[in-house]
Formats: sequence, C-alpha cells, structure tokens
Amino acid sequence: MSTTLSLDGRPIPFTPGQTIMDAALAAGIYIPHLCHNPDYAPHGSCRVCMVGVGGRLVSACTTAALDGMTVESNTETIQSTRRSIVQMLFVEGNHVCPACERSGSCQLQAVAYYVGMLSPHFPQFFPQRPVDASHPDFMIDFNRCILCELCVRASRDHDHKRVFAVSGRGLASHLVIDSPSGLLGDSHFAASDRAAQVCPTGAILPKHRGYEQPIGQRLYDQAPISVVGDLRAQPGGE
Ligand code: FES
Repeated sequence: MSTTLSLDGRPIPFTPGQTIMDAALAAGIYIPHLCHNPDYAPHGSCRVCMVGVGGRLVSACTTAALDGMTVESNTETIQSTRRSIVQMLFVEGNHVCPACERSGSCQLQAVAYYVGMLSPHFPQFFPQRPVDASHPDFMIDFNRCILCELCVRASRDHDHKRVFAVSGRGLASHLVIDSPSGLLGDSHFAASDRAAQVCPTGAILPKHRGYEQPIGQRLYDQAPISVVGDLRAQPGGE
C-alpha cells in the first residue's frame, strides 16, 4: 500500500513504516542529515534534518510519514534553524577544515555549505580533546567527533564488535573505545570494519594516506551534497 505526503508542496509517495527522511530520499529529495544512515536505525541526535510539520519542528529521520501529512523543508526559517544547529556542532569541537584531510569530502562541511554557514557565529568552546594514533591503520581525532554514534551503531550492528560507545552526559558526552587502555590500537577495531567507513566528519581517518584528492577533485568539489548525497551510506563508500 502506498500513501502520500506533501513535501514543500510536492506529493511524495511512501509505504507505511517509512519516516519522512526515508520518503524524501526515496523520491530523490535531499533533506540535510548527519547522524542518519539508512543502514542503521534512526538516531535523531544531530537535529540537522529538522522539518516543519503542523507548525512544529521535528526530525525527519525519526518522524513517521503519515498519509496527507504536510511537510516543509526548504524554507528560509528552517534553513536558518539548521544553520544554527550546524554552527553549534562546529563550535563544540575543533573543526579546522583547511587542515583536515577530509576537507572537500566531509559531510559536516558539505552540510555547512548547504545551509549557508559563513562563520561559526557562536563563541568557540575550544575543548581539549586527544588524538588517538595508536592503531596501525586508522586514527581517531576526537576534536572532530560530533557524537552522531554512526561508528557506535556500525561497530555494534554490522561489525558485531561494540568497539565504540558514548560516555558522559550533556557537554561532557564523549566517544570512548572499548579496550583495556581505552586506545583504538588495543581494541578489536580493524580497517575492514564498517565502522571505519561511516564517520560523517574527519574523526575516523585511515593512516598512510593523505590529501590524496587534489582540490577540485574532491567529492563535494564536484557537486553539492544535495546532489551527490551521502556516499558513506553505501557499504564501503566514502
Ligand atoms: Fe535526523 Fe540527525 S539526521 S537527527
């Protein structure tokens, strides 16, 4: 059975059980997102996918599509809200895009461009966070972690390892690694893990490679994320 919702005035068919995000992506309509990946259960943590339903803002990735529902996405008010959310994500961590190896192929950076972010706007937190380079093949730069928990979900649900978890609450929330030392190199993490592929920022990066794609040839140099989409949603994709 197929039913229909209205997204920015356009009729979008969906099957019962799908979320607004599922329906939009299936129809080829981009709603910005960071913690969403169709391979994993919705998480609803980044709030970048906010859409308007009945005068309220709801997250598209966790809200069930309903027949006859009217959804607003591409309005200046909603884009402004998303922009503020992305700016908060930037100031909470240390995102030094020009020096980041993922720059140009980073989903966070691409979403920032999509929502029209020109500056961090809010005061920078400049948190003190470590870099873990203990693993032979991968490193983790906690400065770039946005707590989307995609690595947590991929490691648990796909790799069946539970290498990652989020500990603490509120501003003290942080990614932790299940190993005797707390270091990635002492964990069961492997370069072939799905968890190595899903990070939407430059927090989990392969070693022995650096700035391989010249400026102009990087993923989001070709087209904006609203056109290219989230290639990390596909197994092995980057
Ligand atoms: Fe919906 Fe993160 S993508 S809350």
